[in-house]
Order: sequence, then structure tokens, then C-alpha cells
Amino acid sequence: MDTMSQIAALAAECIKNLWPDAEGLPGAEDLRGLLAVPPDPALGDYAFPCFRLAKPLRMAPPKIAEALCGAWTREDVASVKPVNGYMNFFLNRANFAAETMVALQAQGDRFGSSDIGKGKTICLDYSSINIAKRFHIGHLSTTMIGHSLKRIFDFLGYETVGINHLGDWGTQFGKMICAYKLWGSKEEVERDGVDAMTRLYVRFHEEAEKDPSLEDQGRAWFKKIEDGDPEAMEIFTWFKEVTLRDAAKVYEQLGVTFDSYAGESFYNDKMEPVIQELRDKHLLTQSEGAWVVDLSEDNMPPCLILKSDGATIYATRDITAAIYRQNTYHFDKCLYVVAYQQDLHFRQVFRVLEKMGYPWAKDCVHVSFGMVSLEGAALKTRTGNVVLLEDLLDQAVAKAREIIEDKSPNLENKEEVARQVGIGAVVYADLSNNRIKDIDFRWDRALNFDGESGPYVQYTHARACSVLRKAGDVSAEPDWSALTDDEAQSLLRLLSRFPDVIREAADKYEPSMVTRAVTDIAQAFNKYYYEHRILDGEPAQAAARIALTDAVRRVIKTGLYLIGVEAPEKM
Ligand code: ARG
Repeated sequence: MDTMSQIAALAAECIKNLWPDAEGLPGAEDLRGLLAVPPDPALGDYAFPCFRLAKPLRMAPPKIAEALCGAWTREDVASVKPVNGYMNFFLNRANFAAETMVALQAQGDRFGSSDIGKGKTICLDYSSINIAKRFHIGHLSTTMIGHSLKRIFDFLGYETVGINHLGDWGTQFGKMICAYKLWGSKEEVERDGVDAMTRLYVRFHEEAEKDPSLEDQGRAWFKKIEDGDPEAMEIFTWFKEVTLRDAAKVYEQLGVTFDSYAGESFYNDKMEPVIQELRDKHLLTQSEGAWVVDLSEDNMPPCLILKSDGATIYATRDITAAIYRQNTYHFDKCLYVVAYQQDLHFRQVFRVLEKMGYPWAKDCVHVSFGMVSLEGAALKTRTGNVVLLEDLLDQAVAKAREIIEDKSPNLENKEEVARQVGIGAVVYADLSNNRIKDIDFRWDRALNFDGESGPYVQYTHARACSVLRKAGDVSAEPDWSALTDDEAQSLLRLLSRFPDVIREAADKYEPSMVTRAVTDIAQAFNKYYYEHRILDGEPAQAAARIALTDAVRRVIKTGLYLIGVEAPEKM
């Protein structure tokens, strides 16, 4: 049992003993939820707001707090003090240190993990890039938030399915093939990848201004893809391969993986029954030649299902995909990590699923997020191009290399560390704010070894590793009472809350809570490091401080892993 649960159980017992006949009093479980952490540690480690008992007991909160504190006998766990209607708990420091350290050591690298997700499946739709389009920094958040959530849910025992719902369908691919046939070359596409495809697409539009018949040719090529014409399919499949080959480089840099690449085109042959079902359930109505689901009751524009030419659209594919995912994976939640611009789209899709009578529609969640800009300029370089994610990551590694060259010229594996630090800086910056906030990415901030940054946390981890290397093998039995000073206690408090943070991050789909937690732990450890000589003194006391350092190292490593950042041992 963790300390908070223990306090809650004891307080519940205390309440029951004082007022055995009163009704509607909170039990241990509820009490744990009610326990607050006072902003100022001088007020105690935890506080129980007694006004929550005022109604059932018909008593004033300060009186309740006094009665409870008077009846408290467990000084071995915490001493108590009534303050303004709160029952404040001051943990018995030695006891708290011992309990926390024992739990940390028992769980080792799995500290904070859990099996609450056992038997449950979470589908995560993230990154979901578009074929023949550049992979730019606008895709960073969907990729990293999704990847981090996948790791967090895995850590909590869930089965997870990472899906890259590729944007690989649309009339633009007909135009691109048409342009390729007219002006393209195999070598060029192989060499320049998506850039070559983009040039073809731009040229198509320029030429189509002069010669509108090109539009018909583009449509004809799209029709050929739809009909599975071998030549069209060959070129289209190849475009897809080339795009994914480029993207794979970025995924590799970021350590991001997927379990499925079933994208929009995957649903081509699966939509017909779904459209029929919508018809059978009388949900389709005709509007200006198109078929739509009316959502006026929900104050939303209608959800377009079939265009007047009979073509399906993005939403048709998403509705089909959701049903497919439920049938295939039996998900408990299906998360869509997509920018907030698609808010309406997902509200419409989820509502249509609900109207179709699928109770699991409520388990589909749009995990939306804000925009990323670079040094104040929204995604664009000076020449007006989008900033490619690959270039941003390369730049980050180059900048990290310079700093490392300067700070630690004798480091053995500089290249590897530069990669870990550069990429880590970008990922940390992306996951350091509440996801719905827009992010302005700044190099000086992201790579500041002294500020709240990836390199700062990584550096702290390396520092802990270095202390442990110096400590070598420790044989003394640790004396936990060596961890009762203020700095050790704040560190222990943060460490003991780490499991709760992970669960909350999962509940709120908010990796930034983990980023916050590792940053706080890193700051608390650095403070500890400056105030205390970890390796000196009594062997039993040094053993306790070394064990604390080891716990910090592990928890930081786990936290960084959960946000998709590597933790080098030397920097
Ligand atoms: N490819 C889409 C885009 O770039 C994102 C797809 C998100 N996932 C989904 N199931 N709609 O806008």
C-alpha cells in the first residue's frame, strides 16, 4: 500500500471510531481521493479537508478537524495538526523514507507500472501521414503524443495497437500519376522522393490552367486506381513505398513504431456494407445530390457520406475504419491523435456511429492538440517551404553535437549521445506543454542544459549514473533514517507520486504530465546533490543515499522512456 492509501485508511478508521453511527461518511477509497497536497510543505505533506464531513455530521469543519486530530494515535506514520478545518498530516520521515525506498527497490525498472489495463485493448491512431506529401514539423505532435500514450498504456498493462491511418486515397493521386506519365522519370522519383511527386503535382496544376483537358485525364487515372488497373496500381503502390521509405527514416530517428499501416485505401472494399447499414437504419438523406447524415439535432452540419458522383469521403472511411477496428481489436478505447482543426470531423464521425446504435461510439476519443511553430514562424522556412521533420531533427543533432563537443570533448560515443540529446530536446519540447496549447519551438530553450529541457533531464540522469559508477558495489545495509532531511524528503515525495502521475497522464491522455514529473524529480535531485555528499560518511547512511540516487536514475529513465526520449548514461 502506498503512503497516501495508508493515511486514507487510517483516517477513515479514525472517523469510524469517532462517529460509528453517522451515515454518508467517506470510506478509505473516497478519502484517498479527498486528500490534498498542501502547496506549502510547511503545512504538512497531506491535508484532509474536513468540510467534506460537515454535512453528514452537522458539525463545523474546525471542530471536526480538532476531534480527528485528538483521536489520532498513529504517530509512527504521521503526526497531525488541525488547521482551519483541515486535518494536516506530517509524515513520519524515517518511516516514509523506508516505505518509499522499499517499494522503489521492489519494483525496480517497473516502478509505476501496473496491471489495471490487463485484458483491455487501446487502439491509437497517430502520425497518420499523407502519401506524396512532405513529413513536416506539423506531424511531430501527433507522432510523439501517440507514441508516448502507447508506451504509457503499455506500461499500465493494456494491450495497445498503434495505427498509422495513411492518407492514401483521393483524386490527387490520379493527377499525380497523370503528371508522372507525361513529364516524370523513375530516376527522379527514386532520387527525390516526395519532393519529385510534389513538383509533378504543382506542374499538373500549372499546365491544367492552360489545358483543362488534363483534369479529365487526371480523373481517368484516378478511376483506373479505383478499378485496380495494373499499371495505375503499380505506380500508385510505388509512390506509397517511396513516401513510406522517407518517413521510415524519421520514425527510426524518433524510435516510433506502428502495428498497422491500414490507411484510407484499406477501407475501399469495406465501405459498401457500412453505407448499406446507414441506409437500412434510415440515417441517410439526400442533399443536393449527395448523401448525408443529418446532425441538425446535435447542432452540427450534416456528415457527408457520398458525394453526388457517388464517391466516398474522408468521413466515410473513418466510420468504416472505426467499425473495422472494433470488430478486429475489440477496443476499450480508440484514440485519434489529430490536430484540433479536425475537431468537428471527429464529433460528426462519433455521433454518426452513435446514431448507428454502436454503444462503443462513446469510447472513441479525439485526442486533439495545438499547433507547432518554429522560432515564432509557423512551420515555414524563409523560402516559404514547410520545415521538414527530418531537417529539424538533423539540425537538432548537429546543434547538440556542437554543445557536447564544447562541454565534454573527451566523451567516448559523442555521435550517439549527440543523436540522443538532439532528438530528445525536440521530443521533450513537444511534450512539455499541455497538449492543447500551441507550441513555439525555440532552439535556445530546447537545448538549454540548465533550463527545463530534455538535455537538462538527460544530464541529471547521467549525473546519477556517474555517482553510482563512483559508488561501485555497496554492501552495507541502508539506514533509511539518513533520508529524513528536507531535500531527500521532497525527492521521495515526488518519486512516491510517480505511479499516480502515470495513471493520471493515461486518464487525461496527457504525456506532458510525465514530462513535468521527470523534470521536477531532476530538479529535486540536483538540489539534493548540491546539498549532500552522497558517497561520504557512515557506510549505512551512504548506502541509503546511493539507493536513493539509484531510484532517481531508474525513475527518470522510465519517465523519459514513456515520453519517447532516450537516457544516455554519460554526457
Ligand atoms: N491523414 C490525416 C491528415 O493528415 C490524418 C488522419 C487522422 N486519422 C484519422 N483516422 N482520420 O490530416
